[in-house]
Amino acid sequence: MSKSKNPGAAVDRARPVDHQKAHEIQAFGHLSRLPNALSENVARQSVENLNQVLADTITLRDLYKKHHWQVAGPTFYQLHLLFDKHYEEQNELVDTIAERIQSLGGISLAMAADVAEATIILRPPKGREEVPVQISRLLHAHEIILEEARSMARQAAESGDDGTNDLLVSDLIRTNEKQVWFVAEHLVDVPLVKAD
Ligand SMILES: [Fe+2]
Repeated sequence: MSKSKNPGAAVDRARPVDHQKAHEIQAFGHLSRLPNALSENVARQSVENLNQVLADTITLRDLYKKHHWQVAGPTFYQLHLLFDKHYEEQNELVDTIAERIQSLGGISLAMAADVAEATIILRPPKGREEVPVQISRLLHAHEIILEEARSMARQAAESGDDGTNDLLVSDLIRTNEKQVWFVAEHLVDVPLVKAD
């Protein structure tokens, strides 16, 4: 049996080739055209709008997780669970919006620093807040998203981007409206034990 001429070569081939670098294949803001029968302008406008609502949805999602962890008081358990449920639903929306952006030939925002730069939702303090303040903060964020999503949905419908319109109306707007209901009812000041 003959020995390999260069036994070291097999060892080298098994080594992962890490620390690789190269130029980006698509610059942020540049549209990669796909054969989807949408004009470049329409796709570009939808990508820009969707990235705004993506940044705001990621922020609202993370606000729910912050409040899931930091909630305090007699309603701790139910709000702890509700906030996490809404976090999961917002997380689904994040993926749906981001993949819509990619399918339009755009590039979705992804990283926290880029999201922080883009969002129009006010940054909350790092510390804990009382339940009514937490809920007010969430409701305000929902309202910002609903307002922009409705106007983006109208724009998408008028320009013929029905897929984006459907996503905004059927997924984003409906989910946010339902979450507003579930959260806002906690700020109705009704007696807990004895009627007024
Ligand atoms: Fe948890």
